[in-house]
Amino acid sequence: MSAGGAGAFGHVSVLLKEATDALAIKADGSYLDGTLGGAGHAEEIAGQLGENGRLYGFDLDADAIAEAERKLSGYGDKVRLFRDNFKNAVTVLKEEGVEGLDGILLDLGVSSHQIDDPARGFSYMQDAPLDMRMAQDKGRSAADLLKEETEEELARIFREYGEERFAKQIAHRIVLQREAHPLETTEELNEIVYMTVPKAARKKGSHPSKRIFQALRIAVNGELTGLTECLDEMISFLHPGGRLAVITFHSLEDRIVKQCFQRNEKPCICPPQFPVCACGRVSAGRIVTRKAIVPSEEESGKNTRARSAKLRVFERTGRN
Ligand SMILES: C[S@@+](CC[C@H](N)C(=O)[O-])C[C@H]1O[C@@H](n2cnc3c(N)ncnc32)[C@H](O)[C@@H]1O
Repeated sequence: MSAGGAGAFGHVSVLLKEATDALAIKADGSYLDGTLGGAGHAEEIAGQLGENGRLYGFDLDADAIAEAERKLSGYGDKVRLFRDNFKNAVTVLKEEGVEGLDGILLDLGVSSHQIDDPARGFSYMQDAPLDMRMAQDKGRSAADLLKEETEEELARIFREYGEERFAKQIAHRIVLQREAHPLETTEELNEIVYMTVPKAARKKGSHPSKRIFQALRIAVNGELTGLTECLDEMISFLHPGGRLAVITFHSLEDRIVKQCFQRNEKPCICPPQFPVCACGRVSAGRIVTRKAIVPSEEESGKNTRARSAKLRVFERTGRN
């Protein structure tokens, strides 16, 4: 199986060639893959490194780390793996003596391996315990969150992270239900969503459970806050000419990446009538992808998960 193919792990890498080409890999460069997953992108990067090249890989998921260890074992000291959140990567790498990177890749969200494992509770299509944690042994599960959060906070999560019209009503029903019996399984949550969303609305657009499950997953794993916290720091940690490539799968993530890249390219906050910049904010680099790169029709046809993918790339120039 070549890099990026499904293999036993069951994940097909999205935009494999586009993302690794975008990093413009140098044989003696240092790279970070913040989202190892099935290690498809990581294997492609590692394969392009010479003797002095380095790849640092991060993932929260123990299965992903085990798969990366297996796939990348032949690269010896060139590859180092960390079971940690990518939002901590710059701090961790600095502690390890790494002074900067030539490229960083984030391929966000969950892997097919995680979705397809019924025990993980990521999918509304399989009955399973409501877990949804990327790090299997850390933090609150989706069941904990549904048990502990206020009605208002649940409604906010469904509205903001799932863009769900009936967020308030679904949150209200969950709170009523949990007084008698806290929700423990995906099927119980599906039932609440089904009972709450009116029949006419159920027939339009995507499956309502899909939006609710997406919202819960984002909240359980702190996905948007983590991303927002680390992108600027990652750009600052790039060597001049180094690149940050991010693949997103929904508009909420994409907006965070797009706005961060715009802010780093043109940070000046002076009023437009000022003849010269007085705020002193200096550009960190340039946006390489004016329009996001999306998968070819062929890729989307073969891999439905690729359909919503968007790749954006930023290139660092100069130093802080
Ligand atoms: C889409 S998959 C990556 C697939 C990979 N690029 C490949 O080619 O096989 C996303 C992976 O990122 C991990 N992940 C998501 N958010 C993370 C975070 N904040 N820190 C570390 N890993 C994360 C997930 O556990 C999952 O394994």
